[in-house]
Amino acid sequence: MRSDERTGTVHAGDAIPWLRRLRPQTVDLIFADPPYNAGREAWDTFESGAAYLEWTARWVREAARVLKPTGSLYVCGFSEVLADVKGVAQPHFPGGSCRWLIWYYRNKANLGRDWGRAHESVLHLRMPGFRLNVDEARVPYNAHTLRYPSHPQAKSSRYGDQRYVWQPNPLGAKPRDVLEIPTLTNGMREKTVHPTQKPLELVRRLVAAASRPGDLVLDPFAGSGTTLVACELTGRRWLACELDPGYRAAIAERVQTTAGPGAASGVGRAETVRRAQRRKLR
Ligand SMILES: C[S@@+](CC[C@H](N)C(=O)[O-])C[C@H]1O[C@@H](n2cnc3c(N)ncnc32)[C@H](O)[C@@H]1O
Repeated sequence: MRSDERTGTVHAGDAIPWLRRLRPQTVDLIFADPPYNAGREAWDTFESGAAYLEWTARWVREAARVLKPTGSLYVCGFSEVLADVKGVAQPHFPGGSCRWLIWYYRNKANLGRDWGRAHESVLHLRMPGFRLNVDEARVPYNAHTLRYPSHPQAKSSRYGDQRYVWQPNPLGAKPRDVLEIPTLTNGMREKTVHPTQKPLELVRRLVAAASRPGDLVLDPFAGSGTTLVACELTGRRWLACELDPGYRAAIAERVQTTAGPGAASGVGRAETVRRAQRRKLR
C-alpha cells in the first residue's frame, strides 16, 4: 500500500495532486465539502466564478477517477453555485445519475436585507453501479405515522387494487431528499474552531446512506474532520486531505476523542432515537 493510501490518515497539502496519486477505482464514497467561493476566508476566495468552475472540474475529474464503478460523490454548496458545479461535474459520471439533496435549517441568524438563507444543497453524483443503502439511513417516522401506523391504500392509489396494507418499516422511515438538521452555532458542544463546520448528524446520515460498514470513504477538504468522525462512528475506513495545519490539529483532536477507548460506541444520538422508535413500533 502507498503511504498516501494508508487509511485513517490526513494528508497535509493540496487535494488535487494528492487525488492524482491515488490508484483508480479504489474508493467507495467521496464526501466533498469544498470551498464555496463565498469569499469569507482566504481559502474560500477565487479570482472569478469561471476560475472556481475550472478548479472544480479539475478536482471532480480526479475524484471520479478514484471512485469504484459502484461509488458516488457528494458535493456541498450553495444552490446558486452548485447549479453550475453540476454542469462541470456530471460529465465525469457517464451512464450514472445525480440527485439534488437539500440541507434545511431554521436556526441561522439572518441580518442582511436579502432572502434569509435556510438551506444549502448537496449534489449526489453516482456511478452506474451505485445502490443507495436505504436501511442504514432510515429516520424516525413523524407523529402522524406513529399514531396511524397501518392503513389500506386508497382506491385511487396505484396500489389500490392490490389490497396492499401499508405498514411502517421497523427500521424507520425512508430517507427523503430534504434533511432538516440545525446548522452549528457558537456555543454548541460539537462546534470546533472551523468557521464552516458541517453538523455531524448531516454527514453521518449521508455517509450511512451511500456506503456500507468497512467501505472506504474519502474527504478531500476535511476541514475539522466531520466526515472522519462520522466514519469512526459508523465503522467506515477513511482517507482525508486538508491544506490548513490549524484545521489538521482540530481533526487530530476530534478523531482521537471519537476513536479513543470507549468513545467509538457507534451509537450516535440519532441511532438511539431510531432504536427507541423501533421498540415503539413492535
Ligand atoms: C468547507 S471547509 C470543510 C469543512 C468540513 N466539512 C467540516 O465539517 O469541518 C473546506 C476546507 O477545505 C480546505 N481546503 C481549501 N482548499 C483546499 C485544497 N486545495 N486542498 C485541500 N484542502 C483545501 C480548507 O482549509 C477548508 O478547511
